[in-house]
Amino acid sequence: MATENANYPGEKIFKEAKDFLPINGTDYVELYVGNAKQSAHYYKTAFGFESVAYSGLETGNKESVSYVLQQDKIRLVLTSPLKKDGPINEHINNHGDGVKVIALWVEDATKAWEETTSRGAVSFMKPEKTEDEHGYVVRSGIHTYGETIHIFVERRNYKGVFMPGFKAWKTDFNPAPTGLKYIDHMVGNVGWGEMNKWCEFYAKVMGFAQLVSFDDKDISTEYTALMSKVMSNGTGRIKFPINEPAEGRKKSQIEEYIDFYNGAGVQHIAVATNNIIETVRDLRSRGVEFLYVPEVYYDNILERVGEIDEDLEPLKEMNILIDRDDEGYLLQIFTKPVLDRPTMFFEIIQRKGAQSFGKGNFKALFESIEHEQELRGTL
Ligand SMILES: [Fe+2]
Repeated sequence: MATENANYPGEKIFKEAKDFLPINGTDYVELYVGNAKQSAHYYKTAFGFESVAYSGLETGNKESVSYVLQQDKIRLVLTSPLKKDGPINEHINNHGDGVKVIALWVEDATKAWEETTSRGAVSFMKPEKTEDEHGYVVRSGIHTYGETIHIFVERRNYKGVFMPGFKAWKTDFNPAPTGLKYIDHMVGNVGWGEMNKWCEFYAKVMGFAQLVSFDDKDISTEYTALMSKVMSNGTGRIKFPINEPAEGRKKSQIEEYIDFYNGAGVQHIAVATNNIIETVRDLRSRGVEFLYVPEVYYDNILERVGEIDEDLEPLKEMNILIDRDDEGYLLQIFTKPVLDRPTMFFEIIQRKGAQSFGKGNFKALFESIEHEQELRGTL
């Protein structure tokens, strides 16, 4: 059994991970989007996020507007520019809507910056203290793949709704949550031959351990292929699989992503639920679109994955996939891209013991993605 390490908030379960960058969890995920107000409405209506905080002209922010939404432990920040030019406009022009910041909650943002930059991380933002009547927050930041950044957030001395510069966002429109609990993992797509470089970055600069590796033999169909490695911090609370395209007869979905995103970026955000059937039923009724898996997937499925607690019928009806590993099984499903470009999407996952990522479903899934690529003319 792993022993509790004083440096770790939570138990260290991967002993090869280093102890220099203790992370409590994901603090927030910030997307730069073309129209934050309408995106916020989508995440509330379709996904059941609730309104938390706002920054914009009314709070003295003349450059950009941000909406903060939350569902259980998942916090999203949606940001749009208020004027022409500048880094946010440029980001949207290059990438379309997409994830700019994966913010990590730490006890000491200054130390997090020192430990990572001294190991080779490129600084995005030196430690900076901001305060208001609710206390203070210290943030620092480093660059990761593409134009994506990690912001380290130290908030132990802050009692406000989100951060200095934000006010509570009160609204009469409060759709019910859909059972989404926390971010299970966030996947990055990187360019040809770049997977190992970025896995080494997470190992060396952030002290992460490598959990698993999939090569193109694991993840290929008749037509397309990709490779993937999963990096995790010591407690397993932060898991970042990194994908790169692999040679196939047709164009890899990772290459399609890189083409439309104009480089590396976040491919999907996997969010956990305790009842995937109810969550997916709810999301579907609110207009969230999911990848379709052909009915043959469910033929002999129980012979492949063994006994499961759930009835097969509703899983089949909702198109939910099942996979098993040594520790248990998992249920998962993927949305279609939630943006105009075929770039970012969500995964809904319910773990029943399994700590893996659904390797047994890769083939069925990628055939479904190929079908979508075919429709887009990008296969
Ligand atoms: Fe995933």
